[in-house]
Amino acid sequence: MANKNKNKGYATGGGGFATVEAYKLARTNISLSIIKQGCKRVLITSSVAGEGKTTTACNIAAAFSKQVNSRTIIIDCDLRKPTVSKFFHLKSAKGLTNYLVGMCTLDEIIQTVPGTELSVISSGIIPPNPSELLSSQAFADMLDELSLRFDYIIIDTPPVNIVVDAIPVIQLVDGVVLVAYQNKSTFTELDKAVDSVKQHYGKLIGIVLNGKRFKSKKTQYKPYRQQ
Ligand SMILES: Nc1ncnc2c1ncn2[C@@H]1O[C@H](COP(=O)(O)OP(=O)(O)O)[C@@H](O)[C@H]1O
Ligand SMILES: [Mg+2]
Repeated sequence: MANKNKNKGYATGGGGFATVEAYKLARTNISLSIIKQGCKRVLITSSVAGEGKTTTACNIAAAFSKQVNSRTIIIDCDLRKPTVSKFFHLKSAKGLTNYLVGMCTLDEIIQTVPGTELSVISSGIIPPNPSELLSSQAFADMLDELSLRFDYIIIDTPPVNIVVDAIPVIQLVDGVVLVAYQNKSTFTELDKAVDSVKQHYGKLIGIVLNGKRFKSKKTQYKPYRQQ
């Protein structure tokens, strides 16, 4: 399904208006689920690969960045299959891994999606030790620094049932959102992912069902439009 991000709406999945509204609803639900002052950190993951973590994380981040008083950054913490910078058509040269090993400053790795207010940290060079980097003190300190500058930090990660990389990050965030794909994700895998989050003291704030087909606009909105 082609991305419909030419107008910086970033809705994907073919739902058009309904898809954009669904991401706004997810944004509202996430905001209401995290009761705290200051920066809210949200981790997006799923049970296995290809369920739409990156698509969901990028769209939710874009939705947050469009609100007033809502400085938003998305960090690509999938250090094995990073695709956030590709999603936003950004350079992926210097990123998270470069910063964590001391090769550059934080300011050097923060990019802005042209024509938007959304900030992005790409993964950087693919490292041999992703889980080690994400469990480092340098990563925790970086999140603390970003929390002073942003209202929302959205973190894209690899699937929890496949690799352990997201586990240390779960403990550094205020909420975890799991993504499941309609008619593809299994209850067994989803259960396992939920258990992983709970076992590591993560706060599961919800499950996004990706790939759901909406009814045709004509059918869906007819009663509303007739009034
Ligand atoms: N709702 C959807 N409808 C159609 N294609 C989708 C949808 N969500 C994701 N995709 C596509 O599926 C592939 C995997 O999505 P991605 O977000 O990269 O998954 P993950 O990060 O979980 O591996 C991508 O090519 C993406 O464009
Ligand atoms: Mg991904």
